[in-house]
Amino acid sequence: MGKLLMLNGPNLNRLGQREPDVYGKETLADIEADLQSLLSSHSYQIEAKQSNHEGELIDILHEAESQFDGIIFNPGAYTHTSIALRDAISSISAPVIEVHISNVHKRESFRHHSMLAPVCEGQIVGLGTKGYQLAAMYFIGEK
Ligand code: DQA
Repeated sequence: MGKLLMLNGPNLNRLGQREPDVYGKETLADIEADLQSLLSSHSYQIEAKQSNHEGELIDILHEAESQFDGIIFNPGAYTHTSIALRDAISSISAPVIEVHISNVHKRESFRHHSMLAPVCEGQIVGLGTKGYQLAAMYFIGEK
């Protein structure tokens, strides 16, 4: 049985209530349930974690290395600022796909740059919550 980690960073615990015009109405629990049903027929499991704290996200990434075949990571605003998260991703061998629900390139210029994208396997941006499923499909080999 393969295992994927869905990891979400700051403020993403508020999905569903937070700026629904930008991020939609689905909650993290809805996204996890959609991923679980997608993966169950492919002998994969999903585990979901969320933290608002940079250091905790780093700890989760370190621990994930030996436990997961791939990591679907929406780092929220830390995307644009965190050298520490970039170093954490570089330090582990498990592949990471960076996901953003909104099209960050259509938004404020401070969202245009990702500190993390150069050390990720790839990036999915602006396709709504479907981006998490597309990342999962990549990991399970449905490319
Ligand atoms: C986000 C985009 C980030 O710029 C923002 O800070 C978020 C959410 C997205 O999923 O679109 O928290 O990562």
